[in-house]
Amino acid sequence: MFITFEGIEGSGKTTRMREAGRFLQSRGYELLLTREPGGTALGERIRAILLSPEQKGMDPTAELLLYMADRADHVNTLIRPALAKKKVVLCDRYFDATLAYQGYARGLDIELLRAFHRTALNDFMPDLTFLLDLPPEIGLSRALGDRSRSDAESRFEQEALDFHARVRAGYLSLADEDPERFIRIDAAAAPESVDRQIRSALEERFPEQDRNPQK
Ligand code: TMP
Repeated sequence: MFITFEGIEGSGKTTRMREAGRFLQSRGYELLLTREPGGTALGERIRAILLSPEQKGMDPTAELLLYMADRADHVNTLIRPALAKKKVVLCDRYFDATLAYQGYARGLDIELLRAFHRTALNDFMPDLTFLLDLPPEIGLSRALGDRSRSDAESRFEQEALDFHARVRAGYLSLADEDPERFIRIDAAAAPESVDRQIRSALEERFPEQDRNPQK
């Protein structure tokens, strides 16, 4: 099972994903926790380029191709092998982020992005996606107050509020188009309530594993 976590900056998805991982582990599942961009050694190098404020003004198509290069390496060398070993893969962002950021917010043609994804990765998609939704004013103020985030990764936080509003609107329309896959979570709520919403969705899908099966 391949599960992704999406949302604007400051939605808390990284922390909430770790919490979801702890919950699934406690139910007896083997996990891979990973992220995009990043995840592989090559991905981490691509991430450093993509998130560096020194690359302000990067050409949008070049930006898209770097995200796609990261994803090809990530899916083929890490995600698919983990799924083949029956691990549950939890991934912090995936192709929906490309649609929301490079498509809805930067203005690249959505159908072109989908065609690239089809060609490069045979349209490989998650089974389940948590969209941690909240207004960009709240998300950005949280993200800017987050000291764990280094300045070296601030290129997207430096985008204007209307950019983040377009990202959010993009995510919401993706979720509307595919209600089977997406679970929208109110991420403006308190962290415990967000965790509870995620846990109850997981409980339905992941019964407790019998770790000591009787012979
Ligand atoms: P994060 O660690 O906050 O998730 O950082 C990743 C940044 O990269 C975030 O600003 C969203 C952006 N991004 C895209 O623009 N397109 C993509 O395809 C992905 C995966 C991330």
